[in-house]
Amino acid sequence: MKNVTKILLVVSLFSLLSCGESAKKTSEHETVKVAAGVWKLTSGTPEKVNLLSELSVTPKLEAIDAMGEAELPVTMDEISVKQRDGKTYIRFPLEKDEKIFGLGLNFKTVEQRGRIMRLHVDHYAGKDDGRTHAPVPFFVSSRGYGALINSARYIDVWAGTSVRKDSENPPVVRDRNTDKDWEAQPYSDNLEFLVPADGVEIILFAGDDMLDVVRRFNLYNGGGVLPPKWGLGFWHRVPTLYSDKEVLAEVADFERHDFPLSVIGLEPGWMSRAYPCTYEWDSTRFPKPKEFVGALNDKNIKTNVWINGYVSPDGELYSKIYPYTGSHTVWCGIVPDYSMKEAQDILSAHFRKHQLDIGVSGYKMDENDGFDSWLWPDVAEFPSGNSAEQMRQIYGALMQNLTTKMYRDENKRTYGLVRSSNAGTSSFPYVLYNDYYNHRDFITALINSSFIGVLWTPEVRSSKNSEDWLRRMQTVCFSPVAMLNAWADGTKPWSFPDVTEEVNDVAKLRMRLIPYLYTAFADYAFYGTPPMRAMNLEKGYFAADQITKKEFDGTDNPYAMAVRREVKDQFMVGDNLLVAPLFAGDKERTVVLPEGKWYDFYTGELAGESEVITVNGDTKRIPVYVKDGGIVPLWPAEAKTDGRKYPLEIRHYGFKPSTYELYDDDGETYDYEKGDYVRITLKVDVDADGNKSGSVTVPDGKTAWSYDGYDFRFMTK
Ligand code: GAL
Repeated sequence: MKNVTKILLVVSLFSLLSCGESAKKTSEHETVKVAAGVWKLTSGTPEKVNLLSELSVTPKLEAIDAMGEAELPVTMDEISVKQRDGKTYIRFPLEKDEKIFGLGLNFKTVEQRGRIMRLHVDHYAGKDDGRTHAPVPFFVSSRGYGALINSARYIDVWAGTSVRKDSENPPVVRDRNTDKDWEAQPYSDNLEFLVPADGVEIILFAGDDMLDVVRRFNLYNGGGVLPPKWGLGFWHRVPTLYSDKEVLAEVADFERHDFPLSVIGLEPGWMSRAYPCTYEWDSTRFPKPKEFVGALNDKNIKTNVWINGYVSPDGELYSKIYPYTGSHTVWCGIVPDYSMKEAQDILSAHFRKHQLDIGVSGYKMDENDGFDSWLWPDVAEFPSGNSAEQMRQIYGALMQNLTTKMYRDENKRTYGLVRSSNAGTSSFPYVLYNDYYNHRDFITALINSSFIGVLWTPEVRSSKNSEDWLRRMQTVCFSPVAMLNAWADGTKPWSFPDVTEEVNDVAKLRMRLIPYLYTAFADYAFYGTPPMRAMNLEKGYFAADQITKKEFDGTDNPYAMAVRREVKDQFMVGDNLLVAPLFAGDKERTVVLPEGKWYDFYTGELAGESEVITVNGDTKRIPVYVKDGGIVPLWPAEAKTDGRKYPLEIRHYGFKPSTYELYDDDGETYDYEKGDYVRITLKVDVDADGNKSGSVTVPDGKTAWSYDGYDFRFMTK
């Protein structure tokens, strides 16, 4: 007994001594500060392989430090992490009004408190149960902190559902016979995780608000991706069995219809064998691949090719990679162990020979997510010794790692698609997509992607009617990849003639927005700020409870109520644009405008101020609003991302003076990482009479790569 007291005394003395220092130890875990507002907590014996260990990613600690210090709102003693039965039990405390976001790419919910999940890589099957394309075990709390449970295992989560008998904030005990307020799910003050491993590493992130927390998380993951400029143009994926001639005819059709086109995506038919794959060109459909890709490149159109991870016995890769593959096959193809250096070298050499070296711009990496009946089972073995479970959790991330490195070694940026991901991938040039085709849920996924360091595209495939077609085309033009995936349906942007004009308008708007989008992505890369993000991450939005203006007091004012509800259908693009998509069949929709004045993007007129507005469902254009003082740079719709310079139209909305740091670089190499970029200050002053004037400051000795001429346009009269 005496001994136990002694140990406790020593432990708490140590805690006291280390208070405010960089390391802190409790009886259950040890915490070391790694950067301003970031700590690494370890407990038990963490596994060698985790979500970050297999990736070539370096945390951007300097950028995190530049954000300044931030304190965690929970103490280390309040976080419980312990081992039992070879598993790790984790508990974070929850406060009464605390909200929890993140915990994987969910499609139906944004707020996660009250849900039970097993975070497991899979193809999303219609339920937010943790099985999804990016089950990132990272949560963000409205209290201003977040945590990554850095384990490549299937992780169980009870997000505010479990009740402990020793709870400090226990629910009220009620008698179901007599009390109508009895609840099947009593109040819970626990956020609990179970990791099937004898130890774990947890990275804790603090922040002044949730956006700061997310920024630190993204910077820890190596910062966000800066795609090549062409990646932000319009993408079209052709039907799977198209030949080179058919693709070129399709490209000519785009020109005839005056429709923008930056990337052509080839689906499985480009390959000699698919499911499993050879990664070699089919000689009947593409007899001269180099000339074909070259012809597209000459037109400034990039080529992206579909692959999956499973290797066909009919190709030249098979025998070379065979020793470095798992025990089980997928669609009769062998499964490379992407975590092994030997496998990586063989795969890179093959991919280089058949794609990179002939000018292919990147990949769509399919089928690395699920379903269970297709993929390797958890009893499979891999030559690296990594378990099948770990491989399932990181396979998509490993494929991203390898292909990113391949292009990086050539100092070329790539941009592509992937169907599974996890923590640590923010800096990889890949966007998630899937086969689940619900427009509304696609927007909810887009919102959720911003909490967990991944990108998501609500791609367009087909539609039952022209209204749905238009609405889907509109939203995809405000996503990380504006893409029509016609692999199965053969749809064209002009497939629904009665909305062709509007579809064309929004695709051209997408092209015009590239300078703005590129800057938003640069902010993702340099500062970790997600380019498309949840309203909950917007300053002045989440703080509804703190709105002190008189008219917003009172408990049942509609604004305060609206922001307290879960917002799943509107989002921010960059710092200044709020996008509120319309969905087919809707007669109207409401839009929550955060604090301050907001203006209509198209007309510059005042749309509302800290309020909920209603938009008519007949509105032809996608509703987009700009915050007061918002600056939006646009270039011509026909601008090509090939190094030519174009004049910019600089729009300013509202009456607030403001500045905007327009980013530019060569658009295609990694030289920006060595400082080869420019930030041009666009400034709008407003005098006492409300007259506005704009100025442009280019830092001494620098020039923009793509912009020449700046014309201010004050949208609000
Ligand atoms: C699916 C994928 C589609 C398309 C198709 C080709 O798995 O999600 O986008 O590429 O494979 O077979």
